[in-house]
Amino acid sequence: MTHYPSARFSVAPMLDWTDRHCRYFHRLMSRHAQLYTEMVTTGAILHGKGDYLGFSEAEHPLVLQLGGSDPVALAECAIRAERQGYDEINLNVGCPSDRVQNGMFGACLMAEPQRVADSIAAMKAAVAIPVTVKTRIGIDELDSYQFLCTLVDGLVEAGVDALIVHARKAWLKGLSPKQNRDVPPLDYERVYQLKRDYPHLTIAVNGGIKTLDEAKLHLEQLDGVMLGREVYQNPYLLAQVDGELFGDAYAVPSRHEVIRQLLPYIETQLSQGAYLGNVTRHTLGVFQGLPGARAWRRHLSENAHKAGSGPEVVEAAMAHVPEFCYID
Ligand SMILES: Cc1cc2nc3c(=O)[nH]c(=O)nc-3n(C[C@H](O)[C@H](O)[C@H](O)COP(=O)(O)O)c2cc1C
Repeated sequence: MTHYPSARFSVAPMLDWTDRHCRYFHRLMSRHAQLYTEMVTTGAILHGKGDYLGFSEAEHPLVLQLGGSDPVALAECAIRAERQGYDEINLNVGCPSDRVQNGMFGACLMAEPQRVADSIAAMKAAVAIPVTVKTRIGIDELDSYQFLCTLVDGLVEAGVDALIVHARKAWLKGLSPKQNRDVPPLDYERVYQLKRDYPHLTIAVNGGIKTLDEAKLHLEQLDGVMLGREVYQNPYLLAQVDGELFGDAYAVPSRHEVIRQLLPYIETQLSQGAYLGNVTRHTLGVFQGLPGARAWRRHLSENAHKAGSGPEVVEAAMAHVPEFCYID
C-alpha cells in the first residue's frame, strides 16, 4: 500500500519523554518501529548551547521533529540533521501549547497553510531524506474537512513525503496541552477519508490507539499508525510490533533481557555524566501487569536519583520481579 514502510508503526514525539535514553530503550524491543525525537525548535538548534541533535547509532530509523515556522531556518536545521545522520525530518504542526503559539509554530500553523507549504518546500529543496508533517484535523473554528484539504493540497504541492494526523482538533484557547490530547473527540473517519481522497500520499493516524489489534484495524485503511502514551506507559508492547506489524518474527528478548541489555548503555551514560534516573525513568512501565512490577518501580524511584547509583540499583529493582513466572 505504501512506498514508505517504516511509517507503518512509529512512537510519537513526546517532549521530556522521548529523549535519547528513552529511544535507546525502546529500540531494544523493536528493530522496525520508527522512533521520533522530542520536538526541537529551530532556535535551539541554531542558537542554543546544548547538543540538541545527539543520538546513538542504535536508534535508527530515527526522525527529528522540528518546531519552527521560518522556511530558511527550518531548511538550515534540516541540513544539519541530515548531515548528522537522521533518517527523516518531521515538522510539528500539531502542538497546541502557549509557548509554542508565541513562537509561531505547532498547531497554530494550521491557520497558515501557505507558510507550512513554504517550509516543507524549503526543506525538501535542502535535503534528500524524507520530510513529513504531523498535524491535527483542525484548530478552533477551523475544523472543516475542506480546511484540512486546503492544508494537505499545499503540502502535496510542496512535495511532503508523508502526513501523520492526530485525529482530533486542538482548541488553542481554553484547553491545556494535556486536555487537548483527551478532550476534543477522536475522528478517525476523517483521516480515512483523507487517505481515500489522497491515495498516493502516505498517511498515518495518531491518537488514542492502545493495542496492536486496534493498530491493525487502522492499517486496513491507512499506511501507518503512531502511538504515544500507551507505548511510554507500557513499553513492552513494542516487543510484539516487529512480528505482528512488520512480518519479522524472531525471538524477542524477555523483559528481563531488555533491562539486562540496557545495563552496558547505562554504564556508558553514567561515565559520561548522566544520572541513573535519567535513563531508568523511561523503564518504569516495562513490567506492567506482572507480580513485582510495583516493587520494581518503587525501588527505582527511591534509589535511582541518589548520587553514585549505578547498574546494581537496576539489578536489585529487577530482583523484585520473578523471572520465570510469565510467558511473554
Ligand atoms: C508528554 C507528551 C509530550 C508531547 N510532546 C509532543 C511533541 O514534542 N511533539 C508532538 O508533535 N506531539 C507531542 N505530543 C503529542 C503526541 O505526539 C501524540 O500526538 C499524542 O500523545 C496523541 O497520541 P497518543 O494518544 O498515542 O498518546 C506529546 C504528548 C505527550 C503525552
